[in-house]
Amino acid sequence: MNDKPGKKITPALDALELLKADHDKVRGLFREFEDLKDIDDEDGRKGRLVDEICREVATHTMIEDEIFYPLLRSVIDDDDLMDEAGIEHAGARELIGQLETMFPGDDHYDATVTVLGEEIAHHIEKEECDMFDAARNAGLDLDELGAQLATRKEELDDGLPAQDIPAEAVAPRGSARQAQRPPN
Ligand SMILES: [Fe+2]
Repeated sequence: MNDKPGKKITPALDALELLKADHDKVRGLFREFEDLKDIDDEDGRKGRLVDEICREVATHTMIEDEIFYPLLRSVIDDDDLMDEAGIEHAGARELIGQLETMFPGDDHYDATVTVLGEEIAHHIEKEECDMFDAARNAGLDLDELGAQLATRKEELDDGLPAQDIPAEAVAPRGSARQAQRPPN
């Protein structure tokens, strides 16, 4: 019982477990969509599901863009891997932006969700293989990083503004890396 007032309680997942849990949730939501696509959205279920997909993907890509990707980029020597992942995130945001202006029943609505799902599935596969291995081998403090990701995720879910990430807290020993934040 030593928690200070205001201290955030975060789930005890390390960074890769937390990101994997997000991936599994998103994969499940896209599977649910497969059962609903090509049918009329009379009860609004499809629209609500797609809203949830867009929210989950947007929050997940944001915590990766703000925290995980800059940190990983600074400790591995593979700019191509990080550049491609960043472009894939931009592609997902583009499709989410399109879906935000569409309604179930619109031309290309189902096709847009399907393409988003295919692109996300490819992106997740690459991330869980190449990036997760790189993160494990880089000597990062994955528990501390997991706590930071969880806290930021809670903030985004609560609609709170961005905060500076004390990235040095999770840097491997001896790293002179500075906190980095991509341009908005
Ligand atoms: Fe991810």
